[in-house]
Amino acid sequence: MLLSFLRLGMGLCTAARQRGVACAAFACLSSRSGILKQEDESLMLIHKWKGAGSALTFAAGILALPLLAQCEQEESATYSQEDVAEHDSPEKEVWVSYEGGVYNVTDFLEMHPGGAQRLMMAAGGAIDPFWAMYAQHKTAEVRELLEGYRIGNLVGGAQQTYGDPYANEPKRHGALIVRSQQPFNAETPVEFLSQAKLTPNDLFYVRNHLPVPKVDSESWKVSVKGEGMRQVELSLEDLESKFKKHTVTCTLQCTGNRRDMFNGVKSVQGLEWSAGAIGTAEFAGARLSDVLAYAGLTEDSLGEVEHIQFEGLDSDISGTCYGASIPVMKALSRQDDVILAYEMNGQEIPPDHGYPVRVVAPGITGARSVKWLARIIAHREESGSHWQQKDYKSFSPNVDWDNVDWGSAPAVQETNVQSAICVPQQGQTVDASDEEIEVQGYAYSGGGQGIIRVDVTADDGETWITADLSPVHDRRNRQQFKAQPQMQSYRFCL
Ligand code: HEM
Repeated sequence: MLLSFLRLGMGLCTAARQRGVACAAFACLSSRSGILKQEDESLMLIHKWKGAGSALTFAAGILALPLLAQCEQEESATYSQEDVAEHDSPEKEVWVSYEGGVYNVTDFLEMHPGGAQRLMMAAGGAIDPFWAMYAQHKTAEVRELLEGYRIGNLVGGAQQTYGDPYANEPKRHGALIVRSQQPFNAETPVEFLSQAKLTPNDLFYVRNHLPVPKVDSESWKVSVKGEGMRQVELSLEDLESKFKKHTVTCTLQCTGNRRDMFNGVKSVQGLEWSAGAIGTAEFAGARLSDVLAYAGLTEDSLGEVEHIQFEGLDSDISGTCYGASIPVMKALSRQDDVILAYEMNGQEIPPDHGYPVRVVAPGITGARSVKWLARIIAHREESGSHWQQKDYKSFSPNVDWDNVDWGSAPAVQETNVQSAICVPQQGQTVDASDEEIEVQGYAYSGGGQGIIRVDVTADDGETWITADLSPVHDRRNRQQFKAQPQMQSYRFCL
């Protein structure tokens, strides 16, 4: 318990000095937003301490005051890069440096939202190059959190400069609504979505987790391997010549589409997507099932193989790449049309969308359609990637970052019904004296489920008007599927 208070005291002391007065430490306890560790090792957001009562605040304050002098002393301490390098494990403590500061983040390891394993990559060294990559850290809140762990400065300050991992980003269309620059994330203005059945490539939403890799399509190859299979490497030309070209029109949607609406109910973390993190394109490429069969995946392998993992060429400086997986039955199903796409709306796949080849898994959340495809692995386990294990999962509203048990929920695969009004736009004023207002929008369902009906209300649910849906002419909407239109649709209705 004492250790917890010491940690708290030191955090307070830093915050107090930042504010210029020692007594600010007390106010800081109840107002600062950040993460503290409790004795039971669980995560706790500082704002939760608000309710902990004045006794706790007072006790922490008493401890913090004698520590002020010690903090000042510790934080003016200087360390060499070798000193930092010696602290590269929880047993020896985990130290990192950032912009010339030295931080002991041992207590933060298990609380890191990006995972302890990732933080350990920087153990004993600089986090600067990692944060240049994962630029979502570059906020005042994260910086303040880090400052709570400062123990001193590097001798001579920050000595090394790091290249910009985002130096090779492609040019983007100015109409995209940018949600984050690095990594680049942007959505389509919704009025385009309700007007065109296919979203133009330049206006298609972009969801990147890392810098866009520079890929030479001449030397690009995808490796395919797995239990009981031969390992093969296929070039772009192989994919085009050895396998029948298969075209599928499908909607891809970011798992966080319309997250900003949640914030109206309860504040949530993550990019504040509005309703434009969704789009429909005509993709063409080789069927994944054909490629897996070519590499020797047979029905006999199915006991051994339960998931098809994908890895992209987008990686951070440690070589950790983006990865995801889908169930093998989805990958093998001829009906489910999973393809390794080399064309998007009749053009080569644009750099932001996975040039030269990406996975397109219709009906499944966009995070599994891995871009800049490098490796396909048929495996008993699903992908161990952060984005499969500790992201893109769904929990009850009472689960938060402080009590989430990632292992208790499956990774999102097929998505549920989604719909949004695009015209008039959110916040737009309409003339109440008009007898009629035209409302346009989209509706979509994952798993190949078609939309049967869309109902719209203008009076909080008192009365409903059933919308006219634009027909969706999918390959799957042929005569034999008319009896079951809900099973074969991959794109949204307008
Ligand atoms: C002591 C240093 C670090 C601190 C204080 C820190 C803090 C944080 C915080 C507060 C978040 C949540 C951000 C948000 O969702 O808005 C986060 C997420 C994350 N961090 Fe760190 N981090 C540190 C080091 C690192 C390092 C070295 C790496 C990479 C090797 C890393 C990779 C990530 C990733 C991948 C995420 C999750 C992003 C996502 O879910 O999209 N972090 N970190």
